[in-house]
Amino acid sequence: MTTTFSFDGRDIPFRPGQTVGGALLAAGVLSWRSTRIEGSPRGLFCGIGVCFDCLVTVDARSNQRACQVVAHEAMTVRSQDGTGHDAEAI
Ligand code: FES
Repeated sequence: MTTTFSFDGRDIPFRPGQTVGGALLAAGVLSWRSTRIEGSPRGLFCGIGVCFDCLVTVDARSNQRACQVVAHEAMTVRSQDGTGHDAEAI
């Protein structure tokens, strides 16, 4: 049985201990945030919690680093735009 979490309405499989960012990358999702000014796509960059390029909204909490959050079943992850202050998550 495959364990999954929800990402923008899509089921993303993950292995125990895998981060949200690792699972998204393994599922072929390369970007899940856009920059504030240019709207450029962002995803994993440093992969170690330093650059903040990988921000996502996790269970209605915005600005979570996907490379640091360990995936768990039933979590809901959403992509972010701009400042990361997702209107639905505030
Ligand atoms: S990829 Fe750099 S903080 Fe997550």
